[in-house]
Amino acid sequence: RVVSGRGAVEECKPTNVHVVTGTPEETANILAGLERDGMVKKLPKYENCWLARTDPKDVARVESKTVIVTKKKRDTIPIPAAGVKSQLGSWMSESDWQKAREERFPGSMAGRTMYVIPFSMGPVGSALTKYGVQVTDSPYVVASMGIMTRMGTPVLNKLAEGVEFVRCQHSVGRPLPLKAPLVNSWPCNPEKVLISHLPDTRQILSFGSGYGGNSLLGKKCFALRIASRIAKDEGWLAEHMLILGITSPQGVKRYIAAAFPSACGKTNLAMMKPALPGWKVECVGDDIAWMKFDSQGKLRAINPENGFFGVAPGTSNKTNPYAMATIVKNTVFTNVGETSDGGVWWEGLDPPPADMALTDWHGKTWKQGSSTLCAHPNSRFCAPAAQCPIIDPQWESEEGVPIDAIIFGGRRPEGVPLVYESLNWQHGVFIGAAMRSEATAAAEHKGTDPHMFLRCSSVKLSGAVSLLLLFFT
Ligand SMILES: *[C@@H]1O[C@H](CO)[C@@H](O)[C@H](O)[C@H]1NC(C)=O
Repeated sequence: RVVSGRGAVEECKPTNVHVVTGTPEETANILAGLERDGMVKKLPKYENCWLARTDPKDVARVESKTVIVTKKKRDTIPIPAAGVKSQLGSWMSESDWQKAREERFPGSMAGRTMYVIPFSMGPVGSALTKYGVQVTDSPYVVASMGIMTRMGTPVLNKLAEGVEFVRCQHSVGRPLPLKAPLVNSWPCNPEKVLISHLPDTRQILSFGSGYGGNSLLGKKCFALRIASRIAKDEGWLAEHMLILGITSPQGVKRYIAAAFPSACGKTNLAMMKPALPGWKVECVGDDIAWMKFDSQGKLRAINPENGFFGVAPGTSNKTNPYAMATIVKNTVFTNVGETSDGGVWWEGLDPPPADMALTDWHGKTWKQGSSTLCAHPNSRFCAPAAQCPIIDPQWESEEGVPIDAIIFGGRRPEGVPLVYESLNWQHGVFIGAAMRSEATAAAEHKGTDPHMFLRCSSVKLSGAVSLLLLFFT
């Protein structure tokens, strides 16, 4: 009634419409359907774990095709000097966007089911929470949104009370019957990818990619890009930051938020097992923080997400034992390697036994020592946050956790100290604004994480992770 997705049905012409309720039976049916279509396979070594292999042309966020549509360009990006391409994001005019939409969405869901996903960023009912509705023709997206967000009937009931919500429209852009065969049974339309944001009307329209940040619209599109605008209007902050709680041997607990671009160690830091005796780290979130000053003037943060969409390569019992323990059940893996005993493997894990056969992320036989990678560098696990052994007791707190310090970090090749502390708040803002990190596999290979970019200038970085600490006390 409230959320009929009627406009999207008229435009995209799906064959069926399925309003997602979020029950375990529904999720099981969706996964079974994905398995029948060859989009995922079950990993018998673990409990309710699945492996998806994408079309190799659809493996990461596509920043060059990610645009923000505002009336005035200046509302999206600083205007670059004549002849210079802005590196701070892409603006599209309303008329160009209208045209781009008309070239993509009409009839794009023909022959497919349109799923209507009511979802919540933050615990349902919390004052810091925001709601969304995503329509999508990808059941993989439904399965992943069920892990990454609170999804289904409780949110629908909230929407029926009349709360505001962000409208998200997503299509893989491959209507049926197909005009060309799919690669890896993974529908996508790489030539036509466009991920567009309309902050004025709180809308996201994403076309052509089924992958992660391009298709799970609650994540980067909503929780960072649209939320930054809502936050600006309402006086709070939507940041690309992990949140952790750290307790000293004396029992003093502080919460810290930390901003690094993707693949620079956010998830590993958020779940750190301290080497120092007596210290304890607990995880509130590994990617996004929504922060607001409370009536006492204390900065408080929530993790708007419900799961971890972490980079798999490099994650091991050595680097992140708690993540390893989190992903043994109810997890969807994408583009990792597969072992012949029905498990997963990626670079950074101990070599499997010599008699174990491996299949790489393309679905081809793979041998240890091969010149190609077994797992794509941006391969992912998508797992429920509640399964993390060190999830913080306050991680779903409605008022959020109090933040005492902010860390900025990134990959730096040379020339900067590993860790430094700002002299004061103004100095911290200045050096935070002048930081930059090397490109990561999370976006296109030559790109740089856009959200970090907003606060960054121009040093080329790589190698060690460097940190800047800002303390509020
Ligand atoms: C990681 O450690 C756990 C607990 O010791 C163990 O059960 C698991 O098999 C290990 N995983 C890998 C990939 O080595």
